[in-house]
Amino acid sequence: MKFLPVSFLILALAAAAAFAYDPSPLQDICVATNDLNSGVFVNGKFCKDPKQATADDFLFMGFRNPGNTSNPLGSKVTPAFVDQFPGLNTLGISMARIDFAPGGLNPPHTHPRGTEVLVVVEGTLLVGFVTSNQLNNTLFTKVLYKGDVFVFPIGLIHFQLNIGNTYALAFAGLSSQNPGVITIANAVFGAKPPISADVLTKAFQVDKKVVDYLQAQFWYDNN
Ligand SMILES: *[C@@H]1O[C@H](CO)[C@@H](O)[C@H](O)[C@H]1NC(C)=O
Ligand SMILES: *[C@@H]1O[C@H](CO)[C@@H](O)[C@H](O)[C@H]1NC(C)=O
Repeated sequence: MKFLPVSFLILALAAAAAFAYDPSPLQDICVATNDLNSGVFVNGKFCKDPKQATADDFLFMGFRNPGNTSNPLGSKVTPAFVDQFPGLNTLGISMARIDFAPGGLNPPHTHPRGTEVLVVVEGTLLVGFVTSNQLNNTLFTKVLYKGDVFVFPIGLIHFQLNIGNTYALAFAGLSSQNPGVITIANAVFGAKPPISADVLTKAFQVDKKVVDYLQAQFWYDNN
């Protein structure tokens, strides 16, 4: 161990940084860049040289137009996460725009790294989240009207359904620059390669033909 090279220690430290939670930033700005030569590795994305940063790095215009809800779910999420919005890098925050056709559903999903706070701007949404097994998988659900705000705690499975006769629109803030999305049906029944039917028949207590049917569906990703 005493001959452990310095380069190895540096690598180990870099790995520790890569596994970090969204940190408190150690500098004013750290605009994400794909140019590996321009900066240091900070929590998932390289920083642009701060002297090269411009106001455009802190502007996201992707919410100007509605998302296309002509899909099997009747909803579209437009994320403004660090991948779409480089100025968010290291800041521990992000947003999403969610458009809903009448009857449109943002299906049960979780954000493994972010709490979500959602405000309804148009329409009427039935929303809810389910607590973990420890809290008996309790459903917390509400009907939200224009102006209402609801919070979905980090990691918990949640959904939003447009129960009005009109288009609905909501915006969400998330407590990570890269909150992640796991859509439950897609992950369980649309895994590639498929999860063994032996696993799913027992897990869901159904016949193999039900599992085969579900695995044969096209699981649209509305994100
Ligand atoms: C919306 O998506 C549908 C299905 O992919 C497509 O046919 C349609 O042209 C899209 N509409 C717009 C305005 O992009
Ligand atoms: C969960 O269920 C158990 C057993 O019925 C009960 O003792 C416990 O109080 C419940 N906990 C919550 C948070 O509801």
